[in-house]
Amino acid sequence: MRVVITGARGQLGRALQEVLQRLDLFLVDLPEHDVTERRIVGTIAEFQPDLVVHAAAMTDVDGCERDPDSAFKVNAVGTRNVADTCRLCDAALLYVSTDYVFDGTKGEPYLELDEPNPICVYGRSKLAGELLVRDLLTDCYIVRTAWLYGQGGRNFVAKILELAAHRDELSVVTTEVGSPTYAPDLAAAIARLIEYPLYDTYHFVNEGSCSRFEFAERILEFAGKSHLALRRVEHYERLATVPANAALRNTSASTRFGITLRPWQEALRAYFDDLDN
Ligand SMILES: NC(=O)c1ccc[n+]([C@@H]2O[C@H](COP(=O)([O-])OP(=O)(O)OC[C@H]3O[C@@H](n4cnc5c(N)ncnc54)[C@H](OP(=O)(O)O)[C@@H]3O)[C@@H](O)[C@H]2O)c1
Repeated sequence: MRVVITGARGQLGRALQEVLQRLDLFLVDLPEHDVTERRIVGTIAEFQPDLVVHAAAMTDVDGCERDPDSAFKVNAVGTRNVADTCRLCDAALLYVSTDYVFDGTKGEPYLELDEPNPICVYGRSKLAGELLVRDLLTDCYIVRTAWLYGQGGRNFVAKILELAAHRDELSVVTTEVGSPTYAPDLAAAIARLIEYPLYDTYHFVNEGSCSRFEFAERILEFAGKSHLALRRVEHYERLATVPANAALRNTSASTRFGITLRPWQEALRAYFDDLDN
């Protein structure tokens, strides 16, 4: 199987390279390959892929708010270029999307068929990507994930560890709830999903949900820094408005193929174990 991974140097892209290493891979990322440039269509088509896993995105949520044009250029126009390539060479597409397509008001975890209603630029630009790939392709998986973290990435775990190295006290919000997801677990689930040509929308997150505060508490515990003072706050000043409760539930892949991801606490423990090895 010939597979293109876009965003190959990102958190998910690196984890995907590990789990898909036995396949014939072509890697796309900046600066060599820019999905917003039209010539990417020819570059990818030349490789004649069977599948493109499109993980490249502008993922800085506040950055998207600051610069909506760039957000839509990367997350929507870039996605359209990738989808056009797939049409051209009859390849399937797996588009990685986000919990931020939801508004966070449901009061319980979002299921695959719940209606998106994004409240920030990042969410709107990623939803635009979803709509484009659905319009342009039939052989197309949409995999939504959330609160992604992996070794060496820019993510909440790294941020808490960085702050903990310099401060005695941290303030973290209790009012934002989500589903932390370890990139290697997501990559492993994707590797299993692509064995089934059942093109649909899937929610892949580590099982369970927590607030940012609970997540930070566990991060400090596993890092051996429970002594640090962790203060509960209700508000955190930032540019983007993010959903209050955008936890996701995996019902589709779990019932159809038995693909599930372990509970988030176990995954976080594995992240720290992997750091030590
Ligand atoms: N991170 C999360 O919490 C989260 C949550 C839900 C869903 N997701 C989705 O999951 C996917 C993977 O996320 P991630 O955390 O692995 O992201 P990431 O670490 O930010 O990686 C994204 C990669 O895409 C590259 N990229 C950006 N613009 C590009 C362009 N125009 N052409 C080619 N490559 C480009 C980035 O390069 P630069 O670093 O040089 O910009 C980066 O290497 C994304 O689609 C994201 O929307 C992420």
